[in-house]
This record gives sequence, structure tokens and C-alpha cells, in this order.
Amino acid sequence: MSKVVVFDHPLIQHKLSIMRSKDTGTKEFRELLNEIAMLMVYEVTRDLPTEEVEIETPICVCKAKQLAGKKLGIVPILRAGLGMVDAVTKLIPAARVGHIGLYRDPETHEPHEYYCKLPDDAENRELLVLDPMLATGGSASDAITLIKARGCNHIRLVNLIAAPEGVAKVQQDHPDVDIYIAAMDDHLNEHAYIVPGLGDAGDRLFGTK
Ligand code: PRP
Ligand code: URA
Repeated sequence: MSKVVVFDHPLIQHKLSIMRSKDTGTKEFRELLNEIAMLMVYEVTRDLPTEEVEIETPICVCKAKQLAGKKLGIVPILRAGLGMVDAVTKLIPAARVGHIGLYRDPETHEPHEYYCKLPDDAENRELLVLDPMLATGGSASDAITLIKARGCNHIRLVNLIAAPEGVAKVQQDHPDVDIYIAAMDDHLNEHAYIVPGLGDAGDRLFGTK
């Protein structure tokens, strides 16, 4: 069974509370999503392997550490996952960016794929799947299935807010994928929105409603 890591850091929780408020506008929502994504990825990547290298400082030659192991990639799920991309590429500039387009049918709540473009060497990379919301888990699970079909088996899922239903689905469909979240909310409502959640992340991020 995969692990679920909840980031209860006070800075993350404070920023997330502002994002949840219905009075927070698009500009602030976008900035906060960016900031939280950066704080989260700092922790998500804590166990990346490093290797010793020799560096010559202006003073002397010394041993120092650099990242080793698999290269990284990130895969935002469109649209709302886009709001987490800049933060990650700022911290990890060498990361390649794939995109998966999925939208939820408003009646059935089932995800529909409309776009998939992954890095050529995705199978050789450690991939972080980014999406602020994990509701039924259908979108995240389908996105991970698409990525695995490309031969990639080193995947982590990074969400802001999850519902227990979504976590259970991803754990059942992909027991090898660890899930990193900032909050585990209570339940889904009759429209499969997370309660209390923050509403429609894509609409709030892009100001489309
Ligand atoms: C939202 C969200 C997730 C998905 C989560 O996207 O960003 O991708 O719903 O729901 P699920 O866990 O039940 O699949 P949406 O389909 O609204 O598309 P959008 O980002 O383009 O608005
Ligand atoms: N998608 C969202 O943007 N919010 C939810 O609460 C559920 C799905």
C-alpha cells in the first residue's frame, strides 16, 4: 500500500485557509497555489538521492553534494495543475514538463482525456503528477494509468486537498504511487465536489466563473 503524507506545516496550512475562502480573488489564489506548491515540492523531494562531487571553492577543494539518480519530470493535470508548474520548475529547473488534459463530465463525474504529451524519456524519469484537487480520484488515477502506459513506474502524486474517496481510489488502482497532500478533507458532496474544499480549482485559478 502506498503512503499518504499530509503536510501540516503552519505556513502551508495558513496559506491554504486563505485559498479556501470564497472571498479570495483569482490573483491571490494563483499566488498562494504557487507558494504552497513550492513548499510542498521542497518536502516531496526530501528523499532524492545525492552523490559526492569534488568542487573547488575560491578557498580550497572540497567534497560537496549534488542530486543523483533518476532525472525528474512533472506532469500537471490540465487545467488546475498548471498553477503548480512554475513553483516546481523554479526549484528544479532541469525538470521536463509533460501535460495531461482531463475534464470531469459534470453529470457522471467521470474523467475524459483530451490531451497527453509526455517527455520523450518519461520512462527514465521520476515523475511528479500535479493537481490541486483529488476528489473522486478518477482524474489522478487515469493520468497515472496513461503515464504507466508509457513505461514510467516512478510516480508521485502531489495534491493540495484530497477527499478520502479519492485517496482510496488511487491507492487501490496504483498501490505503488505515494500521495502527498496539504489537507485531507471530510467527504464529497452530491456533485462530487470536496467538502469543505475550495470550490472549483480551475475556475478560481483562471477566473472562468
Ligand atoms: C478538477 C481538478 C481535478 C479533478 C478532480 O478538474 O483539477 O483534475 O477535477 O476530480 P476527480 O478526482 O473527481 O477526478 P476539472 O475536471 O474540473 O477540470 P479543469 O481543471 O479543467 O477545470
Ligand atoms: N474539482 C475541483 O476543482 N474541486 C472539487 O472540489 C472537486 C473537483
